[in-house]
Amino acid sequence: MNLFPMKLCKLIPAVLICFCISTEAQQQKYKLYREPHRPQLHFSQKANWMNDPNGMVFFNNTYHLFYQYYPDSMVWGPMHWGHATSKNLVHWDHEPVALYPDSLGYIFSGSVVADVNNSSGFGKAGKTALVAIFTHHDPKGDASGRIDYQNQSIAYSLDEGRTWTKYEGNPVLKNPGIRDFRDPKVSWYEPQQKWIMTLATQDRISFYSSKDLKQWTKESEFGKDNGAHGGVWECPDLFPLDDNGRDVWVLLVSINPGGPNEGSATQYFIGDFDGTKFSSNQTTTKWLDYGPDDYAGVTWSNTGKRKIFLGWMGNWLYATKVPTYPWRSAMTIPRELSLRKIGTEYYVASKPIENYNLFAEPPFIAESFSTTKFNLTDKVKKLKGPARLSMASDQIKTFSIVLSNSKGEKVVIGYDQQANQYYIDRSEAGIHDFYNGFTKKSVAPRIAQGNDTYLTLFIDNASVELFADNGLTVMTGIFFPNDDFTNIQIEAPETLKIKSLKFNRLQDIW
Ligand code: FRU
Repeated sequence: MNLFPMKLCKLIPAVLICFCISTEAQQQKYKLYREPHRPQLHFSQKANWMNDPNGMVFFNNTYHLFYQYYPDSMVWGPMHWGHATSKNLVHWDHEPVALYPDSLGYIFSGSVVADVNNSSGFGKAGKTALVAIFTHHDPKGDASGRIDYQNQSIAYSLDEGRTWTKYEGNPVLKNPGIRDFRDPKVSWYEPQQKWIMTLATQDRISFYSSKDLKQWTKESEFGKDNGAHGGVWECPDLFPLDDNGRDVWVLLVSINPGGPNEGSATQYFIGDFDGTKFSSNQTTTKWLDYGPDDYAGVTWSNTGKRKIFLGWMGNWLYATKVPTYPWRSAMTIPRELSLRKIGTEYYVASKPIENYNLFAEPPFIAESFSTTKFNLTDKVKKLKGPARLSMASDQIKTFSIVLSNSKGEKVVIGYDQQANQYYIDRSEAGIHDFYNGFTKKSVAPRIAQGNDTYLTLFIDNASVELFADNGLTVMTGIFFPNDDFTNIQIEAPETLKIKSLKFNRLQDIW
């Protein structure tokens, strides 16, 4: 008996079904990530609300990104931890929701560590536990007028962050009577073989230590009289950066409101950490990103000496009102942090991760020319879509880079020599009626000295990230044009000498 036709009969519908599903799935994905203003270069969740990046950990060649997520609405609500993974920090796979709210409350921001020494005892059968340390925010406590409704809890995963078990002894760090007591960032302090928790406690940072991630002892506090205090302190991070073989410690502290261009922003302190105390002689306030839209960012854990930062590309002033559908918010591009010394002062410089080079289309390059008006649109055929523009000059003079569209809308990024400031001006960039102050020009000081300047812009269809002077001054801004910005023009009131200009279209990541 010949079974072949029988088999074929069964096979053909199966193949057809598979084909239909895959094309349907493809189409669905295509539509889903092609909505107006959907970032093509940045991570964003499929739908609904997202804020802070959480639990960023590098483990088994995979970068994990968890995030504050409310899957039932496009505005903030009961917080979950969403989850995504990446091999290259450019392309992301969505994973199932990692942590759900429970009887102890919503799951607020926190961190994840790879417990390679099994200090917690959660590791089993040779499997390293990923341990999440997060804030349980009890909404009932909050509503009843108590102040001790935020506590720190832990959960662990033995399957690379896919499923999580909450510890039965939660919370592991109880609220001592502080209204804002949250956002634990935990790291391993090798010299004393202990975990350090850096915690935002209202107007200062508190440091705790633990041998097993379950029992925590308070070590010290920092910051009541340091830095900017225009709002509550949130989402800290503590890590060393290398200066010629010497560890210089950096403390990131997000603050809301009170940022340099209103609302949310992240300041940093340079200092020393001895396993107990963080100290700093810094007298000026330093901002990791002066733009209006980089908040609550921290670094990946378990990446050795490399420190890779990612922020939430939003501002609490208007994040719940931005005109996107069916999702709200995106993350910044990942940035590698390093130390730079200007005079006797240390600064943190941010540089876009190099992996974008792998997904850059062949560049348009122009070298050694002088101009007052240089139109890239004439030179580059494919301006639409995400792109990177780099410009080097040995003159630091007033200039602007104008991104514009067919509707006469524009966003202007530039440098004002008289004020010695970089800026992003989105006053004519499209939809802005959702928040009154959205059109205000954002400014940032030029920190670099000398005449050489090198800047890079990462341009997406609803955001721009400026890395000026090799990432010493950084600005991130979002905008909502009514049509894509497909023209780029460099303008200068006096002739500007450009050493080199490089433009790459970057591949869409979705
Ligand atoms: C920062 C923040 C955190 C908190 C979380 C709640 O944006 O307010 O302090 O844990 O968002 O979603």
